[in-house]
Amino acid sequence: MSKLYPVSAEFAAQANIKAADYASLYDESVTDPDEFWGRIGKRLEWSKPYTQVQDTSFDASDLHINWYADGELNVATNCLDRHLEKHGDKIAIIWEGDDPNESRRISYRELHAEVCKCANMLKNLGVQKGDRITIYLPMIPEAAVAMLACARIGAVHSIVFGGFSPDSLAGRIVDCTSKLIITADEGLRGGKKVPLKINVDEALQRPGTNTVETVIVVRRTGSPVAMQAPRDRWYHSLMAAQSTECPPEPMNAEDPLFILYTSGSTGKPKGVLHTTGGYLVYASYTHECVFDLQENDVYWCTADVGWVTGHSYMVYGPLANGATSLMFEGVPNYPDVSRFWQVVDKHQVTLFYTAPTAIRALMRDGEAPVKKTKRTSLRLLGTVGEPINPEAWEWYHRVVGDERCPIVDTWWQTETGGILITPLAGAIAQKPGSATKPFFGIKPAIVDVNGTQLEGAAEGNLVITDSWPGQMRTVYGDHQRFIDTYFKTYPGTYFTGDGARRDEDGYYWITGRVDDVINVSGHRLGTAEVESALVAHPKVAEAAVVGCPHDIKGQGIYAYVTLKTGIEPTEELRKELRDWVRKEIGPIATPDYLQWAPGLPKTRSGKIMRRILRKIAENQPDQLGDISTLADPGVVASLVDERMIR
Ligand code: WT7
Repeated sequence: MSKLYPVSAEFAAQANIKAADYASLYDESVTDPDEFWGRIGKRLEWSKPYTQVQDTSFDASDLHINWYADGELNVATNCLDRHLEKHGDKIAIIWEGDDPNESRRISYRELHAEVCKCANMLKNLGVQKGDRITIYLPMIPEAAVAMLACARIGAVHSIVFGGFSPDSLAGRIVDCTSKLIITADEGLRGGKKVPLKINVDEALQRPGTNTVETVIVVRRTGSPVAMQAPRDRWYHSLMAAQSTECPPEPMNAEDPLFILYTSGSTGKPKGVLHTTGGYLVYASYTHECVFDLQENDVYWCTADVGWVTGHSYMVYGPLANGATSLMFEGVPNYPDVSRFWQVVDKHQVTLFYTAPTAIRALMRDGEAPVKKTKRTSLRLLGTVGEPINPEAWEWYHRVVGDERCPIVDTWWQTETGGILITPLAGAIAQKPGSATKPFFGIKPAIVDVNGTQLEGAAEGNLVITDSWPGQMRTVYGDHQRFIDTYFKTYPGTYFTGDGARRDEDGYYWITGRVDDVINVSGHRLGTAEVESALVAHPKVAEAAVVGCPHDIKGQGIYAYVTLKTGIEPTEELRKELRDWVRKEIGPIATPDYLQWAPGLPKTRSGKIMRRILRKIAENQPDQLGDISTLADPGVVASLVDERMIR
């Protein structure tokens, strides 16, 4: 029996959504979605009101997803202009630097002016509606400014996380034929410099990147960087000349807003495309409901802007809601492991949203670094990115929240645009480790391997049976891949790639990915990507990569490597290969374990049996199952003998 944390009466008394509201609103949202979302959509300002709401089909032969299709609006207007009259002086972004002595407070009026200048700068450089702009920036306000400036003129941004390598950056530039890059001289995290401009220079030497005409460079650390004329331009000198007024481009609800690359189970990362109207309705409405947003809240989402959480719940959702959103440049353990809580006290943060991996890492250092701070401003805590183990949940609740703050464990994906399964703290009792119940309009179902929907308490694969406004619309440049990946496995439904259990109370428990995707510290990685990086090394003949248990990261990366004939497996080579992957993809992809594999378990048709490799990596050699169908069952014994986790 899992523990139940009932809704606190005190919290419920002031909450936006109470238990009775949840029941009736959920009921309406799934029985009459047109009426429900038609009403919710009015929370935004539309330059041309919509007359249509939902027009969608999950049938693979007739797949279409349109929301508010005849409406027009601009995302930047909704995030900025419409707040100016009443809330112009309200703080939109609190920026906390890597260095604890550096912070900035930017009002809605100031942010509006910066965004208009940046939008004019882009226009003057020839950027037009529909053009793709790559943003490769650290966590500085200019990242939000650049996003909103693109939105203002209808350019489509593609943010690439600053931890990705030049090759990964190049791949994303090539895929969307980007015209312009906005980057910085360097990033600063935990006192260490990240060579962003150098990475851009290297990326732009890769074939296919010559669509890039301009590189705009924000001066962050001031370290000298090579500027290549006429391609490279300084942000500050271009911005100085721009007007603070820029008329917003009227956008159709279904015009693209952004592309964000994410890993799949096969092939290259895919460009998840989100559009304008439905996305903003969904991001802003979920942000208000899930975090119980109120006028004076100071809201802090610790995610990097390079991930979808940074898009929906640091920038677009909060700013559309006129909230104060905190942006943190640094890391949880710099200058010391109290940093998160020092920032909470310094800026009087009320709503705090982070990842289980961060909580587990901080747990390791004990309670003292938390307890020496006050944290009395906090009233709600959230988590996202991976299943949270009940132990970490309890610690977060007891130590960080002083048993006072409800916890929202929010399940969603890059593809979903916003949160789909989550408690609403004023309405739904929490069970540590469960994402609990579907958000309004979301119809989850659990299917068995044949696609049969299971009723009541059940475990299987998680699908969503109807559309919601924040859903991705396509894989950029590859619509067929969109259909094949999400709508073919269980016809008529959106397949999430996750396994889940539903308990006797109708609560959902996400059990993790059921495809060849691993979740490392809440970041998604395709095993195929790591494998192709490994086999690109001249000494590697073959590689297979699986996830393994990891105390802090949730899942670690476990690689089996077969070397080319005559190559000696040495400790030096092991290090070389780990560094190689790090350089090819980025630090997050570095294998935690790299086991030499004289051979890999394969079927007679040559398919690698990952199930077996997973069990060995999980240190469960007695659960390998049937290995008689292997071409050479003998390889298994030696892999088991030399397994690296015991
Ligand atoms: C995958 C999506 C959504 C923003 C961060 C990750 C896992 C996410 C939870 C949660 C259990 C979770 C799922 C999902 N996941 N949140 N609260 N409980 N699992 O976005 O990189 O698109 O990854 O993260 O496996 O499919 P993403």
